[in-house]
Amino acid sequence: MKGETYEQFVEKFKPKKTTDACYTPPEIYKTIRDWACKEYGIDPDKIVRPFYPGGDYEHYDYPDGCVVLDNPPFSILSKICEFYLERGIPFFLFAPSLTAFSSRKTVMRVCHIICDASIVYDNGATVKTSFVTSYDDGIIVRTGVELTREINRVSAEIRARTVKQLPKYEYSHHVVTAAMIQKYARYGVDFQVNRGECTCIKVLDSQRARGKGIYGGGLLLSDAKAIDHAAAERAAAERAAAEKANAHVWELSDRERDIIASLG
Ligand SMILES: C[S@@+](CC[C@H](N)C(=O)[O-])C[C@H]1O[C@@H](n2cnc3c(N)ncnc32)[C@H](O)[C@@H]1O
Repeated sequence: MKGETYEQFVEKFKPKKTTDACYTPPEIYKTIRDWACKEYGIDPDKIVRPFYPGGDYEHYDYPDGCVVLDNPPFSILSKICEFYLERGIPFFLFAPSLTAFSSRKTVMRVCHIICDASIVYDNGATVKTSFVTSYDDGIIVRTGVELTREINRVSAEIRARTVKQLPKYEYSHHVVTAAMIQKYARYGVDFQVNRGECTCIKVLDSQRARGKGIYGGGLLLSDAKAIDHAAAERAAAERAAAEKANAHVWELSDRERDIIASLG
């Protein structure tokens, strides 16, 4: 603690969630490996994984005919791609989805397979993951439709096994919970309940018979307040929909259109 701020002291005890320390669940790795082997005709026995704690990919002993299929540290991904391209070692590597094109040095020399796949790594971090490969020569980017589907299918299976699923309940507008009011606050909807307009409730009679209850407790509202509540819920839903639709479109300049016209 000496010489440290409180934040620095606390930080040391937090599990590391940087993408460089994201370990791949074996089932997810197998799904990706199987897809790549089928897609590119890779022999699974030729695959090597040089990225591990204390590893040194630059001095790894790469057997003849090997293929690197691994999740590397994203912070040096561009350097890693250059290393393999220069040595003619074929590779299929995990990459961060949103910044997949950020390396000027390698972006035009590899194929980016962009997926909409959120992988939950072993350290608990959820990272939108795509891939870069030396296969698909001549293609700069393609969608990974089947790969996305497969990763998300296996991720959902893992989640279903590990996360205790909370049942989804619908309530009458005569019931309000803190979770509902939290959503109204997020979407800027004013809503208030005064003493005399509600009573606190933990379980509805219909739930009691089935051994259920209102998660976190709630308030049972008067008829008039239930009408206000319905209006608040509608307003929040409308604002959520408007927020989703409110995307800004960046236009292309004439210069960029000329560049596009010159491309094959
Ligand atoms: C994102 S983790 C993935 C680990 C494993 N390959 C997996 O799929 O679960 C990247 C690993 O690469 C290791 N690493 C960092 N620098 C490296 C280097 N220069 N050579 C080899 N491995 C390295 C890190 O210690 C970390 O264990």
